[in-house]
Amino acid sequence: MKNNKITKVLFVCLGNICRSPMAEFVMKDIVEKAGLSHEFEIASAATSTYEIGNPVYPPARQKLAEHGICCAGKTARQITKKDYEHYDYIVAMDQSNLRNLRAMLGDDKQGKISLLMDYTSRPADVADPWYTGDFQATWDDVNEGCSDLLTFIMDKNK
Ligand code: 4NP
Repeated sequence: MKNNKITKVLFVCLGNICRSPMAEFVMKDIVEKAGLSHEFEIASAATSTYEIGNPVYPPARQKLAEHGICCAGKTARQITKKDYEHYDYIVAMDQSNLRNLRAMLGDDKQGKISLLMDYTSRPADVADPWYTGDFQATWDDVNEGCSDLLTFIMDKNK
């Protein structure tokens, strides 16, 4: 690993109560199981103000719990320009998040912003459970996306 650097990853979605916190806690779990927690800082944030201060949405929390993952204490917060400077990877869940990020942060001059499923062999938006209630589809996407993101980062940090 280059310079013992901590890699900082911020997952982003609209509300920061479903998809991005699922990605945050799945990524933390994958990284921990790989024995790499000390090399990462991982968090999540919203593009909107809709859910600021609210905990992870119960069905998302339930889906994480089914896999032994705890997200207690996480509350939604909105992304800031400081986050853009602080994090190395700003990983959005869908195309509309990308548009919102561009409007909020301006041009991605440092090339930090990406889409989670672009790290996988099936680029797409992460399944949005907000209207479908299908948290399993979100889990499947987030799990695959985070696993492939970790592979990408470890290869890049070699
Ligand atoms: P998330 O889900 O962006 O995955 O956290 C949503 C949360 C809240 C809303 C939409 C999506 N909302 O419209 O309030």
